[in-house]
Amino acid sequence: MKITVVGAGNVGATCADVLAHRNAAHEIVLLDVKPGIAEGKALDIWQSAPIDRFDAKTIGVTNNYIPTANSSVVVITSGLPRKPGMSRDDLIETNSVIVKHVTEQIVQYSPCAIIIVVSNPLDVMTYQAYITSKFPRTRVMGMAGILDTGRYKAFIADELNVSPKDISALLLGGHGDTMVPLPRYTTVSGIPITELLPKEKIDAIIERTRFGGGELVKLMGTSAWYAPGSAAARMAEAITLNQKRVFPCCVKLDGEYGLDDVFVGVPVVLGKSGVEKIIELSLNDAEKEDLYSSAKAVKETMDVLDKMQ
Ligand code: LAC
Repeated sequence: MKITVVGAGNVGATCADVLAHRNAAHEIVLLDVKPGIAEGKALDIWQSAPIDRFDAKTIGVTNNYIPTANSSVVVITSGLPRKPGMSRDDLIETNSVIVKHVTEQIVQYSPCAIIIVVSNPLDVMTYQAYITSKFPRTRVMGMAGILDTGRYKAFIADELNVSPKDISALLLGGHGDTMVPLPRYTTVSGIPITELLPKEKIDAIIERTRFGGGELVKLMGTSAWYAPGSAAARMAEAITLNQKRVFPCCVKLDGEYGLDDVFVGVPVVLGKSGVEKIIELSLNDAEKEDLYSSAKAVKETMDVLDKMQ
């Protein structure tokens, strides 16, 4: 099995590093357009193999898709990251051209691949990869829900002073300020979060989660990479190792949740065929309303992309 990560920036390199350390495939190919950068980072990762004891062969290439041929999974991280003051949607023009080009190469060299999009604006770039590849919706998905729930769980762990490992949570919707964390589906070792924290605290955590990416952009002058890279790696690993993991992922809905033709985050089962199942849960009226307004926001940016094509 081979996994290709396109884009050797912070997110792509972190993703390749996590994949290699977890032996998620026999071969990890890191590709970038900037000469030497993917080769250098892949070599650096490979030199940690004897130290950390893994054997997933990690190689880097400059804009050459031949070594990526027949990848089982391709993770697209290419594109510009956010700068302070920018919303993810501000990147649509630049990044859609890049994601389209990368997807065309993937289709040519790895026609059976499963694509995981990480580039922003996430939901719309996933749509871009879907229309360019013409792959079935089961083989094109976006990474956002694992990252956003990661932030949500980390904030809860801090607030309760408990291990993040014991928090289980779910979040729906687009990867933007309208994302929908679900306290009703959030537990600490089975204890509903609503038993442990007052409503105001939960609301404050939800608000911080919605702007969690922006908080990091403000601190660092660019967007995050450790949690995004790890989240994408977990999705790729679930596919190559056929783990049947249940993760919130950005997928195309065809009637599920009463939504059609829109890419938003919902819980799915990830295995060797990609999105093997979309899990539909019953939502109360307020949750439904939040999901619909998030889907509406995504649909509006999808329309912007349609006009640009
Ligand atoms: C973030 C970027 C990766 O949320 O979208 O940090």
